[in-house]
Amino acid sequence: MSKTVIMDHPLVHHKVSLLRNKNTGTKEFKELVSELATLLCYEATRDLPTEEVEIETPVAVAKTHMLSGRKLALVPILRAGLGMVDGMLALLPAAKVGHIGLYRNEDTLEPVEYYCKLPEDIAEREVIVLDPMLATGGSAIDAISQIKKRGVKNIKFIGIIGAPEGLKRLQEAHPDVDIYIAALDEKLNENGYIIPGLGDAGDRIFGTK
Ligand code: PRP
Ligand code: URA
Repeated sequence: MSKTVIMDHPLVHHKVSLLRNKNTGTKEFKELVSELATLLCYEATRDLPTEEVEIETPVAVAKTHMLSGRKLALVPILRAGLGMVDGMLALLPAAKVGHIGLYRNEDTLEPVEYYCKLPEDIAEREVIVLDPMLATGGSAIDAISQIKKRGVKNIKFIGIIGAPEGLKRLQEAHPDVDIYIAALDEKLNENGYIIPGLGDAGDRIFGTK
């Protein structure tokens, strides 16, 4: 059974509050997105399989556990998802990274695809899709559909802020996908922006507005 986790942790609440502040500048915004990605990654990897190993310490042999087997791929949705990659790789340095380029048509709010480059062996990997904003859910749903078409069986979605509308649509469209977000907001406005949200994540990460 898939699950949805909305983080409840003091560090996450604190960092999301800083991220929302309109006076937070590009440098700090980027750092916060990356730090939140690391915290979300910690939670989203709780179920990774481990195996018992014996390790020689300087004084004795320790029976302990290490990650076993499962190969991972991270797939940020361009642009804003890129801001989460380094924070994820800090904990998962062996993960491969694919990219899916989507932007929302400003009138219809439907996602428009413009790029897709995924690791060749993606079908053998567990995939974590990254996008800070889950608004209408269209971009996440579309990206996950593209990844499923490549034969991937095990997919998770990690975001930072979700709207109830987008969360429900994503849960219904891909009921097998575990979802991790740092905060669930109140609603979408008439332009498809999350309220209260944090504004345009891509523009704030890359300083384009
Ligand atoms: C933003 C955000 C998501 C999408 C979420 O991207 O980064 O990808 O909107 O909205 P949705 O849930 O309604 O699909 P945007 O289209 O602004 O592109 P950008 O990241 O290139 O700025
Ligand atoms: N994309 C953003 O970057 N922000 C929103 O509030 C909604 C979609």
